[in-house]
Amino acid sequence: MTQTSVPVGLGGRAYDVIIGHGLIEQAGAAIAPFCPARRVAVVADASVHALHGARLIGSLQASGLKVDVITVPPGEASKSFEGLASLSDQLLALGLDRGDLMVAFGGGVVGDLAGFAAAIYKRGIDFVQIPTTLLAQVDSSVGGKTAIDTPRGKNLIGAFHQPRLVLADLSLLDTLNDREMRAGFAEVLKYGLLGDAAFFDWLEANTAAVLARQPEALSHAVAACVAMKAQIVAEDEREAGRRALLNLGHTFGHALEAEIGFDGELLHGEAVAIGCAQAFRFSAAQGLCSGQDALRAERAIAASGLPTQLSGLPGMPFEAERLVAHMQQDKKAQGGSLTFILAKAIGAAFTAKAVDPKAVFAFLIGEGARP
Ligand code: GLY
Repeated sequence: MTQTSVPVGLGGRAYDVIIGHGLIEQAGAAIAPFCPARRVAVVADASVHALHGARLIGSLQASGLKVDVITVPPGEASKSFEGLASLSDQLLALGLDRGDLMVAFGGGVVGDLAGFAAAIYKRGIDFVQIPTTLLAQVDSSVGGKTAIDTPRGKNLIGAFHQPRLVLADLSLLDTLNDREMRAGFAEVLKYGLLGDAAFFDWLEANTAAVLARQPEALSHAVAACVAMKAQIVAEDEREAGRRALLNLGHTFGHALEAEIGFDGELLHGEAVAIGCAQAFRFSAAQGLCSGQDALRAERAIAASGLPTQLSGLPGMPFEAERLVAHMQQDKKAQGGSLTFILAKAIGAAFTAKAVDPKAVFAFLIGEGARP
């Protein structure tokens, strides 16, 4: 099976995202050049470690690296100040030095947490991402955003810290449960919806093949998303402009996550799925895109088994005012007015600044929230 290498062109901080099947067996050879001190701390999701840890560690050791493993409990709760304190303490107890390397081995939670720990541990050490969920492979492991959550919202405390390498081993997705796979697919659809109508067409025709992990379809989908993300990140690393488009569906979605809590009742990708459908419906309601495009976006999301509406969510009916208050905590919000990623068409998202909270409130009432 072929491998694809996508460069993220960030000058002195440039790196490659390697996409292919069976990469963890080759991880030692791929990672060793980034680790002259030959010492690695693998920060692993405990469930991922139980399934795949032995193969990764075997490969690292076969390349002459000394390996320590720290496991992190699965679930969003680990992406917290408590989780960060515990991880930092364990890294200090190991005596990891600045010249050593950290490897994040897991989904978005571990990638974001370990990445943030790498950003601040002894003022920063190098790290490699080995994402093990579809969501992490197509989005969170690429681009250097690292963060933890607080009870006030997602990803509010964090740093930009680019990895030295990303290994997206597609065979690891074989053990991912279908719900997690669908949740990752929401981020895949997001790329088509925000900037590539032809890719969206392809996804409409290949949803079942990607979700079934058919190797060629999966590899094409992941490589297309990573290539788009790499281009956007290279252009706008710190989200001064175009990178914000990657947050399509996230302002609506994060508000739901903050309201429901981060305990797995609503997965991040599911929140993004509803958020993308809402972003298109809101765009149509504002006369920015056609109702037909909003319906097409919604149908593609629903066709992959993802939710598109608030109805049926735990906590419904939500208070519209509380959802808007969460949106005001969003990192894109400025001076009380809201910023949303909205759409002119499928594949044509744009940043809408100074969106009137009253218009969002009215839209949410129309979506079934209560005043
Ligand atoms: N997940 C959005 C970004 O990396 O910018």
